[in-house]
Amino acid sequence: MKQKQQIMKTPEKLTLARLPTPLEPLDRLSNKLRGPRIWVKRDDLTESTGSGNKIRKLEYVMADALRTGASVVITSGGIQSNHCRATAFAAAKLGISCHLILRGRPPASLDGNLLLDRLLGATISYATAAEFADLDSLYKRTEKLYSDQGISTYSIPIGASNALGMWGYINAAVELKADFLSHNIQPDHIFSATGSGGTLAGLIVGQQLFQLPGKIAGFNVADDGEFFRTKIAADIDNWGRQFGANLPALPIKIIEGYVGPGYGRAGPEVFSCIDLVAKLEGLILDPVYTGKAFHGMLESIRRGQLKNSSDIVFLHTGGIFGLFPHRASFTGPDSPPV
Ligand SMILES: Cc1ncc(COP(=O)(O)O)c(C=O)c1O
Repeated sequence: MKQKQQIMKTPEKLTLARLPTPLEPLDRLSNKLRGPRIWVKRDDLTESTGSGNKIRKLEYVMADALRTGASVVITSGGIQSNHCRATAFAAAKLGISCHLILRGRPPASLDGNLLLDRLLGATISYATAAEFADLDSLYKRTEKLYSDQGISTYSIPIGASNALGMWGYINAAVELKADFLSHNIQPDHIFSATGSGGTLAGLIVGQQLFQLPGKIAGFNVADDGEFFRTKIAADIDNWGRQFGANLPALPIKIIEGYVGPGYGRAGPEVFSCIDLVAKLEGLILDPVYTGKAFHGMLESIRRGQLKNSSDIVFLHTGGIFGLFPHRASFTGPDSPPV
């Protein structure tokens, strides 16, 4: 707790997520694989419409938005962004407006997260991939649309992965530590999907501050390991400067090889993994984030890379609504062999 006392400013937070989330063992799957006991931290249960990891970050980021008196929050992501849907949810719940800048063309029909964005009243603008490459300009243009009308805005980066958002997973590290104590386990590994880096950055800092056991690793679902090591190191650095903590250089482990055909697209092995886990454990994963990471974790077990581990933890970061636009890829009724 020595490091904890070095933190000068602890930010305000709202209560938007239903916490603590459960930590549950997947015993049928673990037995079938003859590997370590797999536990799932159910952050897919943080809320219903706002479910997933983003709502933990938004408890801090939206508190800051309200503090500034903003009437509109602006954020961005892919057409099926879970973060955008969670932001639209939080804004509606707090009685302010939300503007989403989504990468891609308006689809012919509303589906998954996009349907919820619209139901929640978000204003949506679409940007081409080329426009999205200069996201700063898109944010500035959108902010100006409102400021020209005398409306104040608050901009949130992709995935709410900034120093403030990291607090969501610093606190999750405290929660995990209590989970481990109550289940009397000392997990060797904690795995998560990594999309914009904030979840992993928060967990890594939380581990350092609160002595959470286990090696933390993220499976990147876009870009590559180098990109995320650089991004997460910069986020941790910013966090230290913003909140007055003097952190040593912390290990950032990214496991590559599971992006598949690209961000938002998945190969048959990911759909097989989702199918297997759903049928065996009643646990639903998604093809964009958790399905890829979970598949990567099962591959590590199958290759014997975790044979010395007794307990491992998978952080289920949500994303269920992103499953529905991929309905065509679930073809067969049978579970694949393990
Ligand atoms: C369901 C889901 N899991 C994992 C992630 C990755 O989290 P982070 O962006 O904090 O790396 C995201 C968002 O990017 C997500 O929507």
